Amino acid sequence: MHGVTVKIDPMRMKRRLDALAEFGRDPQGGWTRYSFTPEYIQAQNLVKEWLEEAGMKVRLDPVGNLVGRLEGIDGTLPAVAMGSHIDTVKNGGKFDGNLGVVAAVEVVQTIVENHIAHRHPIEVIVFVEEEGARFGSVMLGSRAMLGLVTLEDLHKHHDEAGITLYQALRSMGLSPEKIPASVVPPGYYKAFFEMHIEQGAILDSMNIPVGIVEGIAAPVWLAIRITGRADHAGTTPMNLRRDALSAAAEIVLAVEKIARETDKSTVATVGRLQVKPGGINIVPGEVKMTVDIRDIDVQRRQTVVKKIEDAVKVVCQRREISYEINEIVRIEPVMLPAKMRQLIASAAEEVNVPYCKIISGASHDAQIMAQITPVGMIFAPSKGGLSHCPQEYTELEDIAVCTRVLLSSVLKII
Ligand code: HGY
Ligand code: MN
Ligand code: MN
Repeated sequence: MHGVTVKIDPMRMKRRLDALAEFGRDPQGGWTRYSFTPEYIQAQNLVKEWLEEAGMKVRLDPVGNLVGRLEGIDGTLPAVAMGSHIDTVKNGGKFDGNLGVVAAVEVVQTIVENHIAHRHPIEVIVFVEEEGARFGSVMLGSRAMLGLVTLEDLHKHHDEAGITLYQALRSMGLSPEKIPASVVPPGYYKAFFEMHIEQGAILDSMNIPVGIVEGIAAPVWLAIRITGRADHAGTTPMNLRRDALSAAAEIVLAVEKIARETDKSTVATVGRLQVKPGGINIVPGEVKMTVDIRDIDVQRRQTVVKKIEDAVKVVCQRREISYEINEIVRIEPVMLPAKMRQLIASAAEEVNVPYCKIISGASHDAQIMAQITPVGMIFAPSKGGLSHCPQEYTELEDIAVCTRVLLSSVLKII
């Protein structure tokens, strides 16, 4: 019954979330804290201090994951882990990922401060490049832990300045060649928990403070390049044009229509669109765009991917324009184990807070970790359902309640 008697320190969590928010504030609003940037390293160093303050030994693995470890009575036992990420999207919010890291540290520090004995080692993991916002390599850190990232991937993925992931890792003094050695062996973890903001409106609209995640949808990311012909905007008759942007516009609307017509759990988004050469008086010659397609059901998602690829082909053939589609990400949706959901539910009942089951539309490192260990995921409400924007907000009261549920859950299995 520890989970109910020992007290976490919500004000310490608030101070830490505010301290993290000092790094990566974007003048255009919100936070832009990309992996391996100076602001990311400052934030990571601050978390390293907290992990050490909580009594953990800290290591940086070859791909840049920060891992804190607190030994238990029997160091040969598999570790119970918690974690999330501190990299953000562009102009993102203050809670996405950061909340899960601060909550994990709070749980460990509360266990240590209350001298609670635990047989299993406990680890806190700060996964690197979860968003893929800089290099396009979503959940890089957790995938590398599972041996799903190759050196070739590191040379292939690059940021807008053309810096490859490999170069970025080397510039950090990391040794990407050693990634295979950092792969977590089977049975290394007993369980993994991630606490995260919902990033949707369900909990907030139902006024329920705790979401127990049943399953996590997952993305396929496509990069589409449409190549028409740049022409003079004044002298080129409409019927002779190969206008790449007009083709792209048809495709953007087709993406929306296909997803809308499929199922309410299917979503598709054109998040990036770059027009070249981009002159006022030039018919666009080239468009590069991205499509993010998600569902909890992998067949339904594949049907949408295929329909979108067919739509690109039809539009470009009719307009006598060439195109190229590259798949840059494919993550598998996952249902989380019932025994972990029941464990969290009993923790929520111990803490005496309302909770509900929920599907995550957002993807998380938890779905990667679910391939090697039982995973439990706890959601805290997002005000108005807003996320990936400066207005992202979660009440401290909800943060405290969810952290108490996380603590109570962890105490049941350490
Ligand atoms: O894109 C996502 O779902 C997450 O924020 N990485
Ligand atoms: Mn995110
Ligand atoms: Mn996140």
